[in-house]
Amino acid sequence: MLLVSDMRPQYAAIKPEIDAAVQRVLDSGWFILGAEVEAFEREFAAYNGNKHAVGVGNGTDALALALRAVGVERGDEVITTTHTAVFGALAISQIGATPVLADIDPETGNIDPADIEQRITPRTRAIMPVHLYGQAADMDPILEIGQRHSIPIVEDCAQAHGAKYKGRRVGTMGVISGFSFYPSKNLGAYGDGGLVVTNDAALAETVRALRNGGQVGRYNHVLLGVNSRLDELQAAILGVKLRHLEAWNKRRGELACSYHGLLAGVPGLGLLTNRMFSASVYHLYVVRVPAEQREAFMAHLKQRGIATMIHYPTPVHLQPAYASLGLGSGSYPHAEKMASEVVSLPLYPELTKAEQEQVAAAVREFFAGGNGQPTD
Ligand SMILES: Cc1ncc(COP(=O)(O)O)c(C=O)c1O
Repeated sequence: MLLVSDMRPQYAAIKPEIDAAVQRVLDSGWFILGAEVEAFEREFAAYNGNKHAVGVGNGTDALALALRAVGVERGDEVITTTHTAVFGALAISQIGATPVLADIDPETGNIDPADIEQRITPRTRAIMPVHLYGQAADMDPILEIGQRHSIPIVEDCAQAHGAKYKGRRVGTMGVISGFSFYPSKNLGAYGDGGLVVTNDAALAETVRALRNGGQVGRYNHVLLGVNSRLDELQAAILGVKLRHLEAWNKRRGELACSYHGLLAGVPGLGLLTNRMFSASVYHLYVVRVPAEQREAFMAHLKQRGIATMIHYPTPVHLQPAYASLGLGSGSYPHAEKMASEVVSLPLYPELTKAEQEQVAAAVREFFAGGNGQPTD
């Protein structure tokens, strides 16, 4: 079965480097907050063009601690998109704040800057755009809104390691940003991991304290912190993988480009738009299938040995956990339509051209006949 994201061929390709890094940590006898985490923080900051990086336990905590660092407190509001991994919204809820959701650009799936401004209230303490599927959100208008209302921008870069907006790396435009190293991400650990980046030394120090129980100096707890530390094993693994990230992202770009070529013009199939301002790193390759045909489409591909996924079937505002927001169906028409149609096709750097052609053939076969009815 062809998976949407298969991590086995990547490990096979870099096994000696990974195994050596893991062995080095095991031999060192030091597993929490040591030389490996420090080295990776330095290397990622240099790669991304940030002055500071702080490793944390996962992407959700990276965002929660970044938000706390800029002063978001219980009862505050943070504006983010409703079409995303719910974990981003949970980072807001985790610290007692309320996610205020915005609708999306119906062509890209990314947060709609025009919808952000009308949702600002006196309790808005941050705006958290998400660079979804590897494509940068439209940052200039978002930064301008933030500046005009004196509201900090916190970037959710969980799906976009290495992506650029008008030549600027994601994670360098907001005052502070969070990354996830969930295994299937463009830069993925072999377990959970996350990172906060910023150019502000004071914010970095706050996150550094918060991730480690609020300590400044051993056993001196000055903040009500949490336990959310990137561990030495994951940091060593990520250090190896970071050296390959550019090549992997380039390969993802090539595969996405050939998907566009293979799938453009298939009647009934929709492709997402990649805006000129964004150099996407194609975390996912997402297509749109009419809602009423999606289940049959996915079943057809499965029958051909091709796995697909839905990122994401239910917008944040329609999740049972967020029923208290009181936002029913119809509240965010673009996001709801997108959620009902999206399907992620296999895409990872080691996918071969032949495998990709097999996917495209199965997609075309489904839509053959012009009316979208499966041929079998
Ligand atoms: C857009 C987005 N934000 C936040 C997260 C949370 O990251 P993590 O799973 O590392 O906590 C993820 C990944 O799940 C994500 O895709």
